[in-house]
Parts: sequence; C-alpha cells; structure tokens
Amino acid sequence: MLNPDRFLSDLHTLRRFGASGVGRGVRRPAYSDPDIAAREWIAARMAEAGLRPHFDDMGNLFGLAPGDASSLLLGSHSDSQPEGGWLDGALGVMAALEVARCVPGVSVVSFQDEEGRFGATTGSAVWSGQISQAEADAFTDHDGVSLGRARSRMEGLSSGPVDPSRFSGFMELHIEQGPVLDRDGKRAAVVTDIVGIRDMMVTFDGEQNHAGTTPMHLRRDAFRALAQFSALLEDRLRNVVTPQTVWTIGHVSLHPNASSIVPGRARFSMQWRDRDPERLGRMENIIRATAREVADGGGFELSFGSMFGLEPVGMDPRLRRALEQGAQEVCGDEWLHLPSGALHDATNVARLMPVAMLFAPSIGGRSHCFEEDTEEADLITALRILAAAATRASAQAM
Ligand code: GLV
Ligand code: MN
Ligand code: MN
Repeated sequence: MLNPDRFLSDLHTLRRFGASGVGRGVRRPAYSDPDIAAREWIAARMAEAGLRPHFDDMGNLFGLAPGDASSLLLGSHSDSQPEGGWLDGALGVMAALEVARCVPGVSVVSFQDEEGRFGATTGSAVWSGQISQAEADAFTDHDGVSLGRARSRMEGLSSGPVDPSRFSGFMELHIEQGPVLDRDGKRAAVVTDIVGIRDMMVTFDGEQNHAGTTPMHLRRDAFRALAQFSALLEDRLRNVVTPQTVWTIGHVSLHPNASSIVPGRARFSMQWRDRDPERLGRMENIIRATAREVADGGGFELSFGSMFGLEPVGMDPRLRRALEQGAQEVCGDEWLHLPSGALHDATNVARLMPVAMLFAPSIGGRSHCFEEDTEEADLITALRILAAAATRASAQAM
C-alpha cells in the first residue's frame, strides 16, 4: 500500500544532504559530496525496496525492477542548482521509489547533472545518446573543472551501461516551478510538451585600463558593451517572441572584476527558450546580429562559444492519458494541462521511449531558490496520481 508518510519522510531525509540557506533550501550540485552521499543513500533505499541499484559511468542511478520483463521507468534527478530548493528533482525520485514499492514492474532513476553544472540535463543527454560521454567529459563548469574530472569521484560505483530497451516508457513527476497551478488553485497538471532551449557563452573584449584616469569617451568598457547588448536585445526581440518566450543572461564574469579597473572583458551566458524551433532559430540570428552591432559600434572584439541546444518535445499520448485518468481519479476536475518552460530529463529520454510528465504546484511559483516549496497535501496528491497512472501504464505494457 502507498505510504504517504514514508514518502514525505524520505523527501525530508534527502533534503538533509546539502541542506542550506533559509526555509528548505539545498545546495547539492552534481558530483559534490552531498550529491554523491545522497545517491548512495537513495541506492540503499532502492535495495530495501527490492530494486537492484545500478550506477552507470555518468553517475546516473537506476533502481532496476527484479526479473527480465520490461518495466516502466519513473524518476527525475537528485542533484540541485547551486542555490536550489528541496523538491526540484527530488520529488520525482522519492515519489518514484514509493510507487515502485507498491506497483510491480516499476524501475526508478535519478539522473545526474540535470541542473547543468556542466551543460543541461547532462546525465540523461549522455544516456540517451544526445551527446557522447567523451563530449560530455570535455564540458567545464564555471570554475573550469571538467565533467570528466568531476565524475571520476564516482568511478568506483559504476557497474557500466544500462540498456534502455529494458524500459517500456518513462514518467516524471516534477514541481511546476511556475505560478499557474498556485494562482489558479489547482492541484496538478499533466504536461503537454517541453520547450526547446539554446545556450551559449558570449564574450566582449574591450580594453582594460585605470578607472580614475581613463576619460569616459576613451573607454572600451566591456561591461558597458554587455549592458548595451542586454538593453538592445529587449527591443530587437520584441517582434519575434511570444509572451511565453524567455531569454536570460544568468552568469557573467568580468575581467579582472575589480572596483578601480575598467573591465577589459565581459563573458556571459546567453540562454533562450521557446516551444517553436523556428523561433529559436530566428532569435539566434537576432542575438548574434545585436552582439555584432554593439561590438562594431564600440570597437569591441566579439566571440561566441559553442551552442548547446535541446529541441521541444511533445508527450506520448498513451502515457499522458494514463496521467490524465489518474488525475481525474485522484482530484476530480482540479487539474490542468500545462506546457513546461523548464527543462527536464524527459526531453532526452523521449529519444529512447514514450515519455510523459506530471506537475505539482509550486507555492508562489518559486523555484531555483531556497524558498521553493509545495503544500504537503499537494505532494501526496501528486504521489497518488503517479501511482494510479503507473498502475495503468504498466498493465497496458504487459
Ligand atoms: C532545469 O532546471 C532548467 O533549467 O529548466
Ligand atoms: Mn528539475
Ligand atoms: Mn531545476
């Protein structure tokens, strides 16, 4: 029998790995001490539940259902943002484990580096063949540490690859991370599709100089180039985007980053997301052209790093239907359909098998911050919907 208290207690225990900041905050980036310790703790819970824990070379952790028959895969990720909440990813993994305890033919996964210390959804990207292990190993984090070096910390745990053909499909429960369910007072959402993303580094090189003696009109201040680019982009993208399109400059490094030096270099991440791949392409052209215009206008050198991208994906109709029926059964008409503006491992797994997703409400729409939270009653509702859907989907797969 589904045990909501055990599920909540597991979630609270997982939060202790890397617990930080206000409220229920967590710092558990991929391959950090708390991430590895949390994965070992989850592996032990999997074994207790009768699943076979199996780490692959990336550090993705699978809990494999016993027997040779194909099983339904449920899960998400247990790494966090550098400043994250206790539910982003963790909810999907702990709910999957509780469902696997009660529904036969269910396997569980916690993917590695979903939060993109090294890329974005890196663990599932490698598992699904979106990128090779060698390509991923060359990725570096913002401190210059390579993924290859970071994952060597987990080397002793690996039992080699997990064959995706042993799974009939994948369902991921996640918090919404946006305001809609909370605002509309609804209990859950069945996801229709997941947006696509593009992400690249951009660098303006100007001239480093003395902040007291260099007249304003003689400066080639790389920070001012970045500021001008950001403001211009707002205007240049206006006729191309929809109210759902988003773009973000989320990581900036100024060189040499000192109060009395005119910055010689500004290097920053440029990320944009939309449901339409053509629009993503048009935005790329505008982003590149706007950066070029700023560089040429102010005498800056401009360079673009390599671009990371994931295409938008739709959810599988059969698995989505199982979640819709589960939602109807558990909470009547108190659920919605929603697109996902956040990235998820389901995007990569869709290359391998049918996938579907369920959302639980986020209080105040907050996520990727310490304040992220969800009412416990809503967490339990989501668990029940996932269990009902998994029961249906695994019966259909047989
Ligand atoms: C994943 O957390 C994302 O950035 O959407
Ligand atoms: Mn997540
Ligand atoms: Mn996240």
